[in-house]
Amino acid sequence: MPTVSFEPSGMVVDVDSGASLLQAAEEAGETDVRCCGITPACGKCRVAIWEGEEGLSTPDALESAKLTQLCFLPGERIGCMALVWGDVRVEVRP
Ligand code: FES
Repeated sequence: MPTVSFEPSGMVVDVDSGASLLQAAEEAGETDVRCCGITPACGKCRVAIWEGEEGLSTPDALESAKLTQLCFLPGERIGCMALVWGDVRVEVRP
């Protein structure tokens, strides 16, 4: 069961493999990662990967297009699209 750690809050949660970072944030009670309800439209679930990038799904064509469209920086991911397969530490970017 992968572990997701959130910065700067320090919240930590174990999630089922294949859960999204947004689902992990919701389970952890990390309220600064928000859900627009329309995946992936808004980018409010933006996170920066600090450690464990290899434990996440590779961005698919839709996420890659949205990363560009929403002007995400290198190392940032759309939380509702990035799936967790291994331990990861992320920074919430509201
Ligand atoms: S919840 Fe809106 S883009 Fe992820």
